[in-house]
Order: sequence, then structure tokens, then C-alpha cells
Amino acid sequence: MSEKIYDVPAEWAKRAWVDQAKYKEMYARSISDPNGFWAEQTKRIDWMHAPTKIENVSFAPGNVSIKWFEDGVLNVAHNCIDRHLAKRASQTAIIWEGDDPSQSKHITYQELHDEVCRMANILRTRNVKKGDRVTIYLPMIPEAAYAMLACARIGAIHSVVFAGFSPDSLAQRINDCQSKVIITADEGLRGGKKVPLKANVDAALAKADGVDWVVVVKRTGGKVDMNPTRDLWYHEAAAMVTTECPVEHMHAEDPLFILYTSGSTGQPKGVLHTTGGYLVFASMTHQYVFDYHDGDIYWCTADVGWVTGHSYILYGPLANGATTLMFEGVPNYPDNSRFWNVIDKHKVNIFYTAPTAIRALMQSGDEPVKKTSRASLRLLGSVGEPINPEAWEWYHRVVGDDRCPIVDTWWQTETGGILITPLPGATKLKPGSATQPFFGVVPEIVDADGKVLEGETTGNLCLTRSWPGQMRTVYGDHARFEQTYFSTYKGKYFTGDGCRRDADGYYWITGRVDDVINVSGHRMGTAEVESALVAHEKVSEAAVVGFPHDIKGQGIYAYVTLMAGVQPTEDLRKELVTWVRKEIGPIASPDQIQFAPGLPKTRSGKIMRRILRKIAEDEPGSLGDTSTLADPAVVDDLVKNRQNRK
Ligand code: WTA
Repeated sequence: MSEKIYDVPAEWAKRAWVDQAKYKEMYARSISDPNGFWAEQTKRIDWMHAPTKIENVSFAPGNVSIKWFEDGVLNVAHNCIDRHLAKRASQTAIIWEGDDPSQSKHITYQELHDEVCRMANILRTRNVKKGDRVTIYLPMIPEAAYAMLACARIGAIHSVVFAGFSPDSLAQRINDCQSKVIITADEGLRGGKKVPLKANVDAALAKADGVDWVVVVKRTGGKVDMNPTRDLWYHEAAAMVTTECPVEHMHAEDPLFILYTSGSTGQPKGVLHTTGGYLVFASMTHQYVFDYHDGDIYWCTADVGWVTGHSYILYGPLANGATTLMFEGVPNYPDNSRFWNVIDKHKVNIFYTAPTAIRALMQSGDEPVKKTSRASLRLLGSVGEPINPEAWEWYHRVVGDDRCPIVDTWWQTETGGILITPLPGATKLKPGSATQPFFGVVPEIVDADGKVLEGETTGNLCLTRSWPGQMRTVYGDHARFEQTYFSTYKGKYFTGDGCRRDADGYYWITGRVDDVINVSGHRMGTAEVESALVAHEKVSEAAVVGFPHDIKGQGIYAYVTLMAGVQPTEDLRKELVTWVRKEIGPIASPDQIQFAPGLPKTRSGKIMRRILRKIAEDEPGSLGDTSTLADPAVVDDLVKNRQNRK
């Protein structure tokens, strides 16, 4: 752990919304008078009916219920667009930077209004109503923003599915929330390569029922099959509708979106976020964590398929009337200077990315960074996984020229917005630490038995209080919501993360303590990869664990037991990797596959993953006690044939 401390630069303490004294004062108030504190924060957005009830929350076992601002009435699209028009009609809302560096465009708030209304009218004329689900399977093009905001405008619930997911994964998500409409594109474009999105939708819809319409955005002009009774071209439909579309009046607790995320068991969960609390929290965190001021150019490199894209490309920034940059491409195309060139091209002031990208770019040295100016940069951010101090230092020194604070923001799909983070004008930084809780957030570290650990300690991270951006339920399965988050430590929200608190009260997230792995900042349930593997006809059993990976943070290591009589060959190994890519998507590709005649199981049949993790980490000397295994001999073979020798 790095013990270096970076002070708040003097000019930051002066210009920032929040300095150290103000952080202390606001934090104390958020804890002692949450109703008063959050009532004030509701004023940052427009309401058709301002809420009088603030917090109504129970984390009690069997009765978990989370409501904020429940008698308020509002519309998210109105807040992100219409209310800004008087002042900002001609201000750029979205800067779109294409995969090809010669393609970019500026979309003003007025244009955003018009395009969102068109998309909303396309949906309304196809009978999409308040509460209906719409699946969005789009690349990083402005239409993704139009589609999400169009849903919000008419009260439909969007479910964005990352465009890297396979047809099967897409079908599963369409079925789970019973979407009536899919919005997709002919093809996506990333790093010069085409992704067959419409063809994927066609394949998914062979396995999903109830979809009436597929709206297809023309991105590449590639050839696609159109089903005349189901599919329509967006540009043709858009030409038939107007640029005015009245907003739906939504209750604060009406759903805004569903976003599927991996858990430690079984199928992905539909994380449900609602309207009022989510928007207040996204807007507030965006303003304070990134110290957003009028006129700043802000860039978050996430994909809208993940929660970071929802809260910090779209909803937070647009609620604040910001200029937000949306990037279609990848960090290493056409070369490793791409991020920095985009920063210079659009004069980006605030840059928010993931440790995996930083580590990958760090490998190509300082030169691709140093040949760019980056003079516009003022603040850097990190999200998605723990950032190792070496990567943090490089980001600070090389990318930020020792000038820009780094906000290492810890949060989750479930939390809706950032919960543990520095505020750049208030918090001294320690490389690798997410530092301090945001307003209203009360972290608690507990041991395996739930005993609360005080002071300097390490354990499991819980949150004892609700905040407005918290998820409300698992779509269609409230029992699973309670079981997953509130049953391990009764009366508390359990994050699934391990955490250390140091002597200064700083928080250091150490990574997942459940069967979720974090591959390049993408959450992956080991159970999902296992079920994809066992779906292959030659596989009898599979166990998947994570292992430390220099660039991805964690890699995927799969132990596979083959059906009797099947030969373990190199070709089969490749076939299984391809199979998992096809079943789930490229982000789930195993880095290592080890053929294992047997897996280490207890006498009751439970796989001892601890042992598998140690072998995958190439630490066969520290397997611990193996005497409780039904057949301790399987371990010898596993150790002998391990794939990850250093
Ligand atoms: C991890 C992404 C350390 C953590 C917003 C969490 C982090 C999971 C950080 C959520 C960080 C996210 N430091 N770990 N700054 N940010 N994580 O749902 O394990 O895709 O539980 O949300 O990512 O991933 P998710």
C-alpha cells in the first residue's frame, strides 16, 4: 500500500464547490438531519409536484422497502433537457466522437430535445406506454442517448444491454423484463471492427417472445435483414413524427430503468432504479465529485451499457446542464494516443475512466501521452475496480502532469451513484484509496459473523443507511433483492466488497468477497461462465475463479471436467473459449482453461474454490487444509497441470 499523501492544491480548495470545512459540515448535517439535508437537495431539480415526504426506508429483515421523495412528481427528460432550453438551447449537450477520428459532432440542447422527442413519438405511436419495457442494444452513438431519454420522457422503463453481449444473453434479458420493443443499430463500430448488432437481435428474437417492434438505427450501412412486420428504420420513422412530445408525469418512485448485472449465483439480476431519488443523487454526485462548473467539458469513457454510462455520461451531467462527451471507439485505435488526442481536440477538462484502461495504456510508455498537450485537463477520475498505486501514480504524473487531482470513485450498479470518493477541493488523496464517504453514506466494516469492526481494520463492507440513488428491488423478484443484499448482515446493505479502513479513517476497497469477478472493470458471475461451459456437449463439469491479471485486474480461470471418453486437446480448449464468447460475449472469454479429471469437493459435494483460486494464482504451496476433501488426490493433478506458472 502506498503511504504517499497528496494535499488538496490551494487553487482547488478555493474554486471547488466543497472545501474541507464544508465537507465536514455538510457530511455531519447529512447524518444528523437527513430529511432536512435531502429536502434541500431535491431543489436541484424541477418537480411538477415538489416532494413533502423525504425518506421512507426499512432495511428490516423480511420487510425491506426503500422510498425517497415518494409524493414528488417529475420527469427525468424534462430535467435533463427541457428545463435547460431557456438558457442553453444553443449550448452543446453532447459531443460525439466517432470510432474514426475524422468523425465527430456537437449536439445542442435544442437538437437533443428535438431528437429525443422524435424517438419518443416513434415509441408512442407504436403504443409504448408508461411502465412498458424497452430494450436498448446500441453502440455508443447519440441515438443511445436519444433512446434512453425518450423512454424517460414517456415513462417507459429502459433496459440497456451492452452491445458486446451475445444473442443468448440479450434474449435472456429481453425475456426477463418482457420488453415490447428493441432499439438497435445495423452494426456497431469499435476499433475499426464491425459488430453485427441487428443480426444478433434477430438471433435473440428467435428465443424471445412478445417483441412487437425493432427500431433499427443505420450506423454503418451494412446489409441487414428487415422483417417487414416487425422492423423499422429509425431514420424513416423519425421523418414521419414531430419534434414535440409532451412529457409523462412520473411519481418519484416510478421505475426509470432496469440494468442487468451479474451476481454470485445464477442469472443476472435486473437492478431497478426509480425516478426522483436516482436523479437527485446522480446530479448531486456529478456536481460535487467532478466539481462540475458551467462551461466545463466533461468526458466519461464508459459505455452506456453499464451503470457508469447511465449516471455519468447521461443522467447526472445532463441534469446539470453539462457538456458531456460520448466516445464510440476504444483507447488504442487508431493508436495509443487516442484518449489524449480526443482530450486536446475537444478541450476536455474532466476525464473519468477505468483502471484497466490506464494499466493498458501505461504499458505503451509515456511517449504516446507526452506527445499530446492535455493542457485543458483539470481533474481525473477512476472507477470500476481498485486502482493499484502504480497505475494511480502514472495517471497522476504522466496523464495529469502532476497537476490534476484524481477522484477514485467507489460505487456499484446497485448504488446508482458514487458513494465513497474524494471531493477534489476537500480530500487529501492516497493512491489506491477511494478515501471518504459521500454525503449521507455510512460505511461499516464487519467480520464474517457480522461483528462491527471499529478503527483501523479489514473486513466486509456494509452500508447502514439508505441514500436516494439506491436500487429499489430486483425486477420481478423482491425476495431475491432481500436475500442478496440484506440477509447476510441483517438490517444492513451488504456490498459484496472487502474493505480496509486505515488509521486516518480512509477506505481501501480490496475487491469482491463473493463469487463475482471483476474483469477489466466488468462484473462477471463465475456461475454464469460455469453454466455456459457446462452447456457444451463435451463438458461434464466446470468451476471458474478469478486470478490477478496485469491489465484486466482479474482474469478468468476455468477448470473443466470433460465427458467420459472425450480427449483434452488444444483444439478443444480453443473451441471452449469460442463457445463462451458466443454464449455470453467476448468479455467472458476464459484466459485459461485447465482440463481437470476431478474438482476438489467436500464430502457434501461443495467445490472448494479457495483451493482452485490458489492454484490459479500459482501458489500451490499455500492451499491450506485439504483434509476435508472427499478425494484429496485430485489436488495433485490440479497442481501438476496448472496453467498460470509465473
Ligand atoms: C468494484 C461500477 C475499487 C467493486 C460502478 C464494486 C471498485 C463493483 C471501484 C461494482 C473503486 C467499483 N475501487 N473497486 N473505485 N469502483 N469497484 O456494478 O468491487 O459494474 O462492487 O459498478 O466494482 O461494479 P459495477
